[in-house]
Amino acid sequence: MSYVTPFDYLSDSIYFWIRTISVKRNYDSIAWFYDRLSRLVYGQALVKAQQYLLAAIPANSRVLIVGGGTGWVLEEIAKIHAAGLSITYVDSSPKMIALARERNACGNKVTFIAAAIEAIEPPDVYDVVLTPFLFDNFTDAGMRKVFAYLNNSLEPRGIWLFCDFRKTDVFWQRAMLKVMYLFFRMSCGIEAKELPKTEECFAECGYKVKKHETFVKGFVVSTVYEKGVE
Ligand SMILES: C[S@@+](CC[C@H](N)C(=O)[O-])C[C@H]1O[C@@H](n2cnc3c(N)ncnc32)[C@H](O)[C@@H]1O
Repeated sequence: MSYVTPFDYLSDSIYFWIRTISVKRNYDSIAWFYDRLSRLVYGQALVKAQQYLLAAIPANSRVLIVGGGTGWVLEEIAKIHAAGLSITYVDSSPKMIALARERNACGNKVTFIAAAIEAIEPPDVYDVVLTPFLFDNFTDAGMRKVFAYLNNSLEPRGIWLFCDFRKTDVFWQRAMLKVMYLFFRMSCGIEAKELPKTEECFAECGYKVKKHETFVKGFVVSTVYEKGVE
């Protein structure tokens, strides 16, 4: 394997040793401080990137949230729809799910599933899918599998609320991505080393951009997509 920088070599070596001595492949070990870490590094920006999307959730809809983490997003959703939503909340970290269960989702019905999304049968079909900072965990091939799965779980004209980091040419953002991948590879055992090309998948599957905004000087993107009619 060829390495572009010594940092890439270091990152792969550490990942190899961590994977050898540990079988952890989820966010359990960092669940308790994930939100504090995220706020420390990005302030409220990652929260705002998700708040931006939530206004697009129609009343009384069926919503699938994948990778919601500690569940603060359930309380944000409840500020917009205090009741009437039927939410399925899937996260591969049982500790994240345990924290999410403590949230106040008001009158919305929430079903929690502690599992990797690709490892379960689609629980239902949905009007809305929310994937907040999910796809950065996947290689291109892994992302495509999960994308196909979620695409099949979304109704025609359904809404896909997407937010994630974006590859740019800005030096500090590229450096930040490398540091983040090193950290998450070490602490959560994620396989990915770079962002997958998710926007290509949305375009290939005929999704229309309804609303779009960037945050953190273009480093984070939030997009409301609408699925076409097959
Ligand atoms: C980067 S964190 C983002 C958490 C939350 N969305 C936030 O912004 O605070 C990614 C989340 O996705 C979950 N996750 C990672 N891979 C997953 C998978 N294959 N299926 C379901 N959840 C997954 C992790 O457990 C974690 O909670």
